[in-house]
This record gives sequence, structure tokens and C-alpha cells, in this order.
Amino acid sequence: MSELERHFEATIAADHRIEPRDWVPEGYRKTMVRQIAQHAHSEIIGMQPEGNWITRAPSLRRKAILLAKVQDEAGHGLYLYSAAETLGADRGELTEMLISGRQKYSSIFNYPTLTFADVGVIGWLVDGAAICNQVPLCRSSYGPYARAMIRICKEESFHQRQGYELLLTLMRGTQAQRDMVQDAVNRWWWPSLMMFGPPDDASPNTAQSMAWKIKRHTNDELRQRFVDMSVPQAEKLGVTLPDPLLKWNAERNHYDFGPIDWDELKRVISGDGPCNKERIANRRRAHEDGEWVREAALAHAAKRADGNRAGKATVA
Ligand SMILES: [Fe+2]
Ligand SMILES: [Fe+2]
Repeated sequence: MSELERHFEATIAADHRIEPRDWVPEGYRKTMVRQIAQHAHSEIIGMQPEGNWITRAPSLRRKAILLAKVQDEAGHGLYLYSAAETLGADRGELTEMLISGRQKYSSIFNYPTLTFADVGVIGWLVDGAAICNQVPLCRSSYGPYARAMIRICKEESFHQRQGYELLLTLMRGTQAQRDMVQDAVNRWWWPSLMMFGPPDDASPNTAQSMAWKIKRHTNDELRQRFVDMSVPQAEKLGVTLPDPLLKWNAERNHYDFGPIDWDELKRVISGDGPCNKERIANRRRAHEDGEWVREAALAHAAKRADGNRAGKATVA
């Protein structure tokens, strides 16, 4: 083992953070770039399902909240692309990988938002699942990723609360509003459970990611945590989670739940979900429409660099 490898192993073993200056094995770098990029893509694509409701929010207050939330997601994407760049990735290339379908994003954002109750349910369940997944990532071994995650998690908990508060308001409304919430819960519950990824016995990368302390818990552990957290919240809300097998198990000290349709997850991940094509087409169009902004930013940066050089020359 080389000196550099020893240093890497020792840093991981001591639970210290790997920083951009540190040497890392190629596998670690690749895994980390892939994970951060997929996460960044998910934040950016995740703006679409809810962005769909900004112009139709039922009040100025709801519109302001939703705008702030969707903007937060853009910010999350940017911190994460920046974190990936510290590993030598190029943001432009990562975006290319996304819009050409070579890199994935979370399967959840391929489902449509049919009513305004979906905005509440996404906040409650989707941001809730994201928090379950991401809180342990604040202790991830790669420093820039772990630090980005601290701020992201704070904002995700605002997202979760605004969603839950919206649902509480709807549940205190008319029967039609309560039905709308129940319908949204019925559609989002199972896809939310799929957000944690395939079951542990079909998740070949988990062991290596845990050894590198990129990941701290397995997919099934996090999924169970999410179910245990959501059941009392559903009760308080007055909605039924669409799973007849959901039941407290005193022996395990956890809720048991019914089987997940893994074929659906495979289908949606491989591009055949209800909205995959639309999401990517929108992202591609936004990227192409932004071409002039990138050109202008580059021209501005070049001009400033020239100015600096001229300035220095004068001083010298
Ligand atoms: Fe986010
Ligand atoms: Fe969020």
C-alpha cells in the first residue's frame, strides 16, 4: 500500500473528512461524483413537478411559499454541482450527461402533480424521505458533500413543514379538499418508499459505499425509518396510507409494510415513467435557452480578467 493509500484509509478509519486536496482511489472519486451528480440532477429536475403549480397556487401566500421552495431546490442543485467540481467533474459535462440520459436522477420526479394537494404531499412525503436519506449524509466521508448537506437538510425540513401545514389546512377544509389529499397520498406513498432505492439484497454498491463511509445506513434501514416516522404523522393528519399490510410489530419495534412493486421502480428508472420524457425535454430546452447567458458570463469573465491584467501592468 502506498503512502497516499495509507493516508486515505486512515482518514476514513478515523472518521475524518476527505478534502479536495487529498488523494483518493479512482473508485471512490467515481462513486462520489456519480452520487453527487445524481443528487444535483434530482434537485434541478425536482423543481419541475411543483413548479407546475406556481402560476396556479390558490393564494399569494401559497405562491410565495412555493416559489421560495422551488428556488431552494435550485440552490441545492448548485451547491451539489460545485461539490462535484471539487472532485474534478465539469458542471457542463454533468448537465450533458443528464439531458442525454446517461446519468440518472431520483425516480420520484417522474410522477405528475395532478392537484394542488400534490404540492403538500410532496413536501410531507418526498421532502420527508429526502431528509431521512440526507441527514446521515451530513456525516459522509467527503467533506464538501457533507457540508453542503448540512444546509440542504435545514432547508428540506422547512419544505417538509410547509407541505404538512398545507395538508393540515386542506384537511380542515371541505370534504372535496380532504378527498383531494387522500387521493394525492394514495398516488405518492409507494413512489416515496421507492426513493430509498432497491432492497439491500439487490443493491450491489451499498457495501463499498458503507466501507468508504459515503453511506451510513442501508436502503432498507432508511426506508423503515421513513415508514415509522410517517405512520403517526398520517394518523394526526387523518389520512389512510394505501397499504393494508401496514401494521405495528411490537417484536421488531417497527411497522411492517406490504411488498413494493420493484418492477415499477425499474421501469421508471429506465426511462418509462409517466413523465420522464417531459422532464428531460424541459431540462434540455432550459439548457439551450440559457446558452446566451453562459456566453455572456464567459465574455464578462474574460473582460474582467483582461482588466485585471491591465490594472496590474499599470501598477507594476
Ligand atoms: Fe432539495
Ligand atoms: Fe426539498
